[in-house]
Amino acid sequence: MTRGWSCLFYLLVFLTEVLLFGVLILSLVWVYLFRDGFAWNEDVAKQFNLHPVLMITGFIFLMGNAMLVYRLFRCCNKLASKILHTFLYLLAVPCIVVATIAVFDNHNLRNPPIPNLYSLHSWLGLVTMGLFALQVTKTFVVGFFSFWILLCCDQGTSNFRANLLPIHSTFGIITFMLAVATAVSGYTEKAIFSLKDPTTNRSTYSEMGVEAVLINTQGAALCALAILVPVIILSRAFQRGWQASVFDQQL
Ligand code: HEM
Repeated sequence: MTRGWSCLFYLLVFLTEVLLFGVLILSLVWVYLFRDGFAWNEDVAKQFNLHPVLMITGFIFLMGNAMLVYRLFRCCNKLASKILHTFLYLLAVPCIVVATIAVFDNHNLRNPPIPNLYSLHSWLGLVTMGLFALQVTKTFVVGFFSFWILLCCDQGTSNFRANLLPIHSTFGIITFMLAVATAVSGYTEKAIFSLKDPTTNRSTYSEMGVEAVLINTQGAALCALAILVPVIILSRAFQRGWQASVFDQQL
């Protein structure tokens, strides 16, 4: 990359990392300051709080960073990037599983129980989790077979693996965008359910109190990530080994 493209690349990466860490920290601050922190089955209202924080950790923070690994560590060995990419994806799995158990417990253990999977948010969530499960399964199946076949014929599988790469990265970006849409709808739903005047039970969301602003800020940061992450991943100028000279001449 030329110096100009490098500056732009590092500026975008810096902004993206600020937003990735920012949205995770804000979700923790929100839960601790306004929603009384975490608990498990002994307090289902607090158990719910694990849901947004762990979904943001798994789907946004870990998955976002996993997707950026190949662009960030451009100087390093590709195998090291692959291992880090897979490791971050794998770390996201327990976060998503615990977040899902927490929200189902929060519905089922209430008296009376709340029905499951009635909202648009929950449907979007199922699609997002389905795509994520497909990505993880595919990575393992292809990784496992490639490893064994690779031992006898590297050439034979290299074409196949190269053809799979665009499909894998496209599905990764789609899953990330859907996770953002799901999380934003989740925040909106939570704000409508929870921001109420306890005496009149009237919604106070429109009054834009501190909690409402904090919730909206998290949603806005997620939308900014939905722009920045695909720009960094899809821009040809930021891809490994891309020669910028031709592109620079055209500009
Ligand atoms: C981004 C990843 C997320 C996924 C995949 C996801 C998925 C789900 C699913 C499947 C349910 C249904 C549970 C049931 O029916 O028992 C649910 C419920 C819920 N989620 Fe999320 N969620 C995500 C993020 C969030 C975030 C960030 C919030 C913000 C507070 C949130 C708030 C809620 C609320 C309030 C419910 C209960 C009401 C309902 O069923 O719609 N979610 N979520």
